[in-house]
Amino acid sequence: MKALILVGGFGTRLRPLTLSFPKPLVDFANKPMILHQIEALKDVGVTEVVLAINYRPEVMLNFLKDFEDKLGIKITCSQETEPLGTAGPLALARDRLMDGSGEPFFVLNSDVISEYPFAELIQFHKSHGGEATIMVTKVDEPSKYGVVVMDESGKVDRFVEKPKVFVGNKINAGIYLLNPSVLDRIELRPTSIEKEVFPKIAADQKLHAMVLPGFWMDIGQPKDYITGLRLYLESLRKKASSKLATGSHIVGNVLVHENAVIGEGCLIGPDVAIGPGCVIESGVRLSRCTVMRGVRIKKHACISSSIIGWHSTVGQWARIENMTILGEDVHVSDEIYSNGGVVLPHKEIKSSILKPEIVM
Ligand code: GDD
Ligand code: MG
Repeated sequence: MKALILVGGFGTRLRPLTLSFPKPLVDFANKPMILHQIEALKDVGVTEVVLAINYRPEVMLNFLKDFEDKLGIKITCSQETEPLGTAGPLALARDRLMDGSGEPFFVLNSDVISEYPFAELIQFHKSHGGEATIMVTKVDEPSKYGVVVMDESGKVDRFVEKPKVFVGNKINAGIYLLNPSVLDRIELRPTSIEKEVFPKIAADQKLHAMVLPGFWMDIGQPKDYITGLRLYLESLRKKASSKLATGSHIVGNVLVHENAVIGEGCLIGPDVAIGPGCVIESGVRLSRCTVMRGVRIKKHACISSSIIGWHSTVGQWARIENMTILGEDVHVSDEIYSNGGVVLPHKEIKSSILKPEIVM
């Protein structure tokens, strides 16, 4: 089977992290977002993943080449010369997706995190005999997503992208399984699968939806990224609790890379990910945060509800909280207080950030 992952766009909502890496390569729970997806695709027998990209393909490919061998899966890029939206890239990659087997193929938005129940998706798709299956999930605020109106069997009646009035609360999770015949409905031009393709398949009564078991989150913006980590770690607790850290200094669900070093008297958790090569000095307090590869947190610093980008340092007794997002290689002096804000890569912070702002 094949899969296409939509990796276009500039990831502006996840700046400053996406100033250093394309969004799919931003770490989530200690590995690039896209690797979570590729590993899960490989587990259900996908042999080739096509990355539909419109920006900096070389960065992505250089990075993923290593994983081709490690995971034993083919990874190729299909590059647009102009952004083709969410359907046009499928037309561009048509020849790679049609391998003559007649098998359906996966399409994924690159910023969605879940337990990826792909095996259940294949089973459901085969059972209904329609042309396309989309996974859906319930949310409280449906207006920022694609809303799916379906009957009890899962047959989709309507698909409404970003509705202005309430039509339902089951939303498109950005995970699809499509028959090759769907490609005959898509022209090679900028096209939205949500606005132009799904409504037509639904009108032909060939679009089906399956409620996604387990958690789901679009982690394309900081607040949702932090919530997504909580949900991911909660699911890891149920499915593979041995991967979570243990000890008297750990509270709740915490992921610590085996190469990270943690000093005496720290209190870590809940909902924390500490990446490879990190040094957490003594007396540090961390909760609801991500500390990416190569970061040093000095003595007695306190970090909550924040993301610390690659190779940054946080000084002694500093307090970083309330959605502070430090880009790559940011250095925060001792005793600084940050009450939210975004710090661009390669900066030094020498005075406190008392209200959310962008530190240029
Ligand atoms: N190759 C390519 N070219 N990819 C693109 C382009 C493009 O021109 N434009 C967007 N993408 C990719 C993004 O990288 C992302 O993986 C996916 O298409 C969806 O784009 P987003 O910008 O993340 O859309 P959204 O979050 O507002 O809405 C989409 O996702 C929701 C679920 O998170 C829609 O599919 C909604 O219906 C859905 O509910
Ligand atoms: Mg998105």
